[in-house]
Amino acid sequence: MAQIRVITFGTFDVFHVGHLRILKAAKDQGDHLSVGVSSDQFSFSKKGKRPVYAESERCEIVRSLKYVDDVFIEDSFELKRDYIIQHKANILIMGSDWQGKFDEFNDICEVVYLPRTPSISTSAIIEKIRE
Ligand code: CTP
Repeated sequence: MAQIRVITFGTFDVFHVGHLRILKAAKDQGDHLSVGVSSDQFSFSKKGKRPVYAESERCEIVRSLKYVDDVFIEDSFELKRDYIIQHKANILIMGSDWQGKFDEFNDICEVVYLPRTPSISTSAIIEKIRE
């Protein structure tokens, strides 16, 4: 039977258990997981703040995980369709914070939104450390 290829995207800054769980859940949907890690610049344009960890470090961390087969830098929303095609993805996984936002890609893959882990985020961790 053909391999099921999954793709997901995120900044994955100050890596935490919510990141780990969504990557595990994404891999559980298929056989091969590609992860697009937002570039420093793209992350800044999305979130209005610079990541704490540089893109090369965020990639290194994500690449080391046993659930992850392939990591690349995501430079913009506009390229998402190209990334899905390039990585031959059958399923696009996004966290429920993006619910409905990527339904336009249902013509080339199955778009699945998975629930976020409650009560944890990079922003909340940074805030907690600041306090
Ligand atoms: N994610 C999750 N559960 C959390 C936090 C994040 O499942 N508690 C998922 C997001 O839905 C996304 C991926 O992890 O699919 C990467 O999210 P990212 O935006 O990098 O992490 P956040 O912790 O949400 O970052 P921030 O607080 O800066 O928005």
